[in-house]
Amino acid sequence: ASNGTSGKEKTLAIIKPDGLFGNHTDKIKNAVSESGFTICEEKIVQLDEESVMSFYAEHSSKSFFGSLVKYMTSGPVLLMILEKENAVADWRALIGPTDARKAKITHPHSIRALCGQNSEKNCVHGSDSPQSAQREISFFFEEKSSGSVVQKHDEL
Ligand code: TYD
Ligand code: MG
Repeated sequence: ASNGTSGKEKTLAIIKPDGLFGNHTDKIKNAVSESGFTICEEKIVQLDEESVMSFYAEHSSKSFFGSLVKYMTSGPVLLMILEKENAVADWRALIGPTDARKAKITHPHSIRALCGQNSEKNCVHGSDSPQSAQREISFFFEEKSSGSVVQKHDEL
């Protein structure tokens, strides 16, 4: 309930290349709707290196950055704007911890535990705060947004 008017909040979800490629999309979308989220907008895009570097700029000095960029550009991703009350925190809770290998032990029912592989190929993204959610949604869904569209909303 952080946007004042409707009590609804938006967050950005991404099904990463291993999620799309591994045919986890239906399972993830079922979890999305069963947990009460509405998908406001969605599209499949192929990200280029520049977009990923900008999206994950906060991690640019990390040792895993190069590998992360390579992975996130290895195939198309599905971008979704999810909406519900407390969407940001609830989506983070549903996807589970960053390292899918640890998630399998500590949060076995989480999406990353069920669909992810390790701390890099962890299948899904979720914004970490309402501020990040706003930035990330504009980054991908405003006029001059990032990534080349593979499939638009009305084709999904
Ligand atoms: P981070 O923001 O720490 O995790 P989260 O996605 O849960 O917010 O990291 C961003 C992404 O960077 C993460 O989803 C996958 C990648 N990453 C690695 O490849 N190796 C790592 O050790 C970490 C921590 C993250
Ligand atoms: Mg993060």
